[in-house]
Amino acid sequence: MAHYKIAWLPGDGIGKDVLEAARIVLDKIQLDAEYIPGDIGWEFWCKEGDAFPPRTIELLKNVDAALFGAITSKPVKAAATELSPGLQNRGLTYRSPIVRMRQLFDLYVCLRPCKAYPGNGLNFKEGIDLVVFRENTEDLYAGVEFSPVPPDLAQVLKTLAKPFAPFAALPADQYAVSCKINTRAGSERIARAAFEFARKFKRKKVTIIHKANVVRATDGLFLEEAKNVAKEFSEIQVDDANIDAMTMWLLKNPFNYDVLVAPNLYGDIISDLCAQMVGGLGFGCSGNIGAKLAVFEPTHGSAPKYAGQYKVNPIATILAVKMMLDGLGETGKAASLERAVAEVIKEGKVRTYDMGGANTTLEMAKAIAAKL
Ligand SMILES: NC(=O)c1ccc[n+]([C@@H]2O[C@H](COP(=O)([O-])OP(=O)(O)OC[C@H]3O[C@@H](n4cnc5c(N)ncnc54)[C@H](O)[C@@H]3O)[C@@H](O)[C@H]2O)c1
Repeated sequence: MAHYKIAWLPGDGIGKDVLEAARIVLDKIQLDAEYIPGDIGWEFWCKEGDAFPPRTIELLKNVDAALFGAITSKPVKAAATELSPGLQNRGLTYRSPIVRMRQLFDLYVCLRPCKAYPGNGLNFKEGIDLVVFRENTEDLYAGVEFSPVPPDLAQVLKTLAKPFAPFAALPADQYAVSCKINTRAGSERIARAAFEFARKFKRKKVTIIHKANVVRATDGLFLEEAKNVAKEFSEIQVDDANIDAMTMWLLKNPFNYDVLVAPNLYGDIISDLCAQMVGGLGFGCSGNIGAKLAVFEPTHGSAPKYAGQYKVNPIATILAVKMMLDGLGETGKAASLERAVAEVIKEGKVRTYDMGGANTTLEMAKAIAAKL
């Protein structure tokens, strides 16, 4: 029996191409693992009315980790029209399987390392090495949303919140409400994860990202909890910044930053910015980590226009494999894989289209495997 069970979730579009590439390096590195395929994505929404079927949820309860490609998501109304005829008008509502997975398995850490590998022509600046900790289950992604707004909710808001007055007279279908919900426990644990990472890897500084001057209740709570956690890590510098200022400072002085921690939405925004500074979507990798399960993925989506063409860059997914190896405690294999990626980038002989070359997804994976 293999030592590890890994759920293998290619999903849609280029998710299939990049996971095929990931398998080339995993086979070369000889991880003692069984890869168990799982159904997820658009095909299952259309055929079964569920993009994240119960059998895949069961699979994820019984694995050591999961590698995920990408899924296609569409707005609720467009999704409903693509259901197979027998499933139409049954009140089925599309929800992104990756967002559901994060909530169902309490994958509260979204870890996104953003490192500029030397010689990558796409680097914004050489030497950037940032790590983003994004809270992954709460905030504006809690899924508590109203459109149209029920009269009961409008009445309560009118009674409890003075600033609601300008909205109170609007018809229910002329506005919408999405609730930003942040808990003390959720804010504390993501901040703790960031500071513990900083301590373990001898990082100098943690920056707390928020907008507490305007979004006072929720971001105020997040900032307060994160600052409390910081007191236990006196050897690590701490500062905080508003999300808007942060985007500017990161571009201006990226070397002033090290580990960044943020609530869900700001973390999403900042991690795309950081990924772009180190080469863009072809290089952005991500770990969704909880107490019992961790799911690793490239940050990019399913890029339908390139699906099945083996054109896109698999490095993001191969770096997600490196994160998975670290997560499994296979740190030696993880380090070798990262060295192999860095060497191929530095040599610049094998390059996918985004790097200005014409090599295929699988050629890039084979070049990396050849260095192992
Ligand atoms: N986690 C996920 O699965 C995830 C994340 C984002 C978007 N999506 C979904 O993916 C679908 C397409 O979304 P999109 O087009 O906005 O974003 P996308 O990330 O799929 O692609 C945008 C563009 O980025 C480039 N790109 C993406 N990955 C690349 C790679 N590995 N190498 C080189 N270039 C790459 C391509 O030019 C592509 O057209 C949508 O349905 C969206 O909802 C899924």
